[in-house]
Amino acid sequence: GLVKTKVGLLIVGLSNSGKSTIVARLTKEPVEDVAPTVGFAVETTKMEGLSVTMFDMSGNQKYFTLWQHYYKDTTAIMFVLDAADPHRFAEADAVLQELLKADQLKRVPLLFMCNKMDLVSAAQPADVAAALHLPASSARAFQLQSCSALHGSGIREGMQWLLGQV
Ligand code: GTP
Repeated sequence: GLVKTKVGLLIVGLSNSGKSTIVARLTKEPVEDVAPTVGFAVETTKMEGLSVTMFDMSGNQKYFTLWQHYYKDTTAIMFVLDAADPHRFAEADAVLQELLKADQLKRVPLLFMCNKMDLVSAAQPADVAAALHLPASSARAFQLQSCSALHGSGIREGMQWLLGQV
């Protein structure tokens, strides 16, 4: 069959959730240098023998309208949540539901990153699953992954699963 060698990875979530820090982990750049993303940032890296182009979208609400321009090139989605910021779970859920409505993303696998698990205040994955409307894995390939972009834990595991789905 056709072997896919190129992956378009859409990385979305609210501001301050840790998207760019995850990208820095994946591209082996210093995670200390990460600043809020203005608009978006595109970077390509090799992972698991695949060429992965990452569309790191700003989580600032004024840039949400930019996201849709990348849907046509998206073959995998990573949604990042700050698990230590439960006051924004409802807002994150609303953004996630809106994203998953897009026709172009209907069959696209979704990796949901419960980030900042190094913080003692972080909600457990089960609590996150109860607070948000996460898709049933029968509806689309879906995985909930705990991670800490700061410590670099959980990111490889999540990406291995996601790249196995495309
Ligand atoms: P926007 O560009 O505003 O959309 O933000 P972003 O989602 O790209 O977040 P970014 O990677 O800039 O991280 C926001 C802040 O959270 C930074 O101060 C990071 O150092 C911090 N951060 C990211 N990941 C973690 C984590 O796993 N644990 C902790 N404790 N802090 C983290």
